[in-house]
Amino acid sequence: MTFKKNILCIGAGYVGGPTMAVIASKCPRYRVTVVDIDEEKIRRWGSDRLPIFEPGLDQIVRRARGRNLFFSTAIAEEIDRADIIFVSVNTPTKTYGHGAGMASDLQHWEKTAHQIVQYSRQAKIIVEKSTLPVRTAEAMERILTANKKGIHFDVISNPEFLAEGSAVRDLLEPDRVLIGCHDSDSGRQAAAEIAAIFAHWVPSERIITSNLWSAELSKLVANAFLAQRISSINSITPLCEKTDADIAEISYAVGSDHRIGARFLQASVGFGGSCFKKDILNLVYIARSYDLSETADYWELVVRMNEYQMKRFVDRIIREMFNTIVDKKIALFGFAFKANTGDTRESPAIFVARKLLEEKALLAISDPQALDNARHDLAGLDGRVSFESDPYKAAAGAQAIAVLTEWEQFQSLDYEKIYKGMKKPAFVFDGRNILDHPRLFAIGFNVFPIGKPSRTHF
Ligand code: NAD
Ligand code: UGA
Repeated sequence: MTFKKNILCIGAGYVGGPTMAVIASKCPRYRVTVVDIDEEKIRRWGSDRLPIFEPGLDQIVRRARGRNLFFSTAIAEEIDRADIIFVSVNTPTKTYGHGAGMASDLQHWEKTAHQIVQYSRQAKIIVEKSTLPVRTAEAMERILTANKKGIHFDVISNPEFLAEGSAVRDLLEPDRVLIGCHDSDSGRQAAAEIAAIFAHWVPSERIITSNLWSAELSKLVANAFLAQRISSINSITPLCEKTDADIAEISYAVGSDHRIGARFLQASVGFGGSCFKKDILNLVYIARSYDLSETADYWELVVRMNEYQMKRFVDRIIREMFNTIVDKKIALFGFAFKANTGDTRESPAIFVARKLLEEKALLAISDPQALDNARHDLAGLDGRVSFESDPYKAAAGAQAIAVLTEWEQFQSLDYEKIYKGMKKPAFVFDGRNILDHPRLFAIGFNVFPIGKPSRTHF
């Protein structure tokens, strides 16, 4: 089989793997290869047990793998072969030196730029898929054009907007695909080549083009806006708890206005995930670096409100359980940062678990997909934490249940049976407002939702 083009993706993570699997499945005439430095990850992408859990991903990978989708660690060889290279490496918050705790750590990204120069022998289009600070493409271009081989590289920004847990659906039916390029013949031609890939399944009106810097900055702004909605609704929850207003009714009433819209107004223990916090902090850092302190302060509050919400949740557990949780068993229902994923990066559950352990509680953690990651996140704290795939076992003998992830299966458990096996008085702290609170109260639980009146038997 001869292929029309060779596409390479550097970085086989939550973005690189699913995105390339969908491209390969929709574009059988393109040869798509995903490389990574992590050999174990690549081995698992080639196995029946993929390294990440995403609904619908197994089938898509199985259909295309070996046909036009390949996973490899032969980075040099694959760079040389590629016509188009997507760079989808991790860009976490810097933990050291200048900008620590705020700026993006670009070391992985920069290494790939040098590797591309080193192993390339002909012109290529380089696509920024990772989320990057605005004007990063400029640095990428400088590294690439510093080559002495006379090779031409076009740099395109094509930020990814998929959300975990719905990655396959988001990739198959994106609200938009954003392609940023330079306003030059070569830039526009490169952008058209990238657009042609997505045009295999995305309607043309959803493929948006912009200048490079707008594309880079749009990604940070989109995440900041989404997180801001959550912090905005969460900021009202303590007021609801004081006044007996109900946050779900407020979300509905406010979100029914089409100008506001209903989505992302679900009050919670706080937002998690690998990107919201890091991307907002990065936006704040960039604004400060241009001396724009009002802009920086405005967005920083979104993160601070989220931290306040997580802390408030823990404080409430301690306060309502008579100001001590020493040696009390608390079952955590959910550890993933959201439902339908095993990912726990920046999950509010990590914060909550650590704080409860500091207060000397005993924890039993139950999650359908995230227990391996939870073990890793809480490594070294073994004696006081147990991990149970069965939520009934986690709750047995516990004094409280704290719901931290909105997994659907937690809604359909037999709470009468759970209540019977728990120590009394028994508490439920619903950090996702997913359970039937009047029913739990009728069973005998003392119920503490987020931003709704509590129901207690005292
Ligand atoms: P990830 O950590 O899951 O995957 C990144 C991969 O890159 C890792 O497997 C790592 O081993 C690999 N890597 C790092 N340096 C490498 C190198 N030099 N050569 C080859 N491989 C290398 O990260 P992710 O969640 O896929 O995120 C990737 C980027 O996409 C980030 O910038 C993130 O902000 C952005 N993003 C993530 C999501 C999401 O839902 N996770 C959504 C949109 C955008
Ligand atoms: C988010 C964005 O939604 C994606 O568009 C973006 O591509 C991605 O970040 C990224 O750049 O990494 P993701 O973090 O995977 O996706 O998941 P979300 O659905 O956005 O949820 C993030 C967090 O907010 C979760 O902890 C979720 O439980 C919480 N959330 C979400 C709420 O607390 N309330 C809501 O109403 C919605």
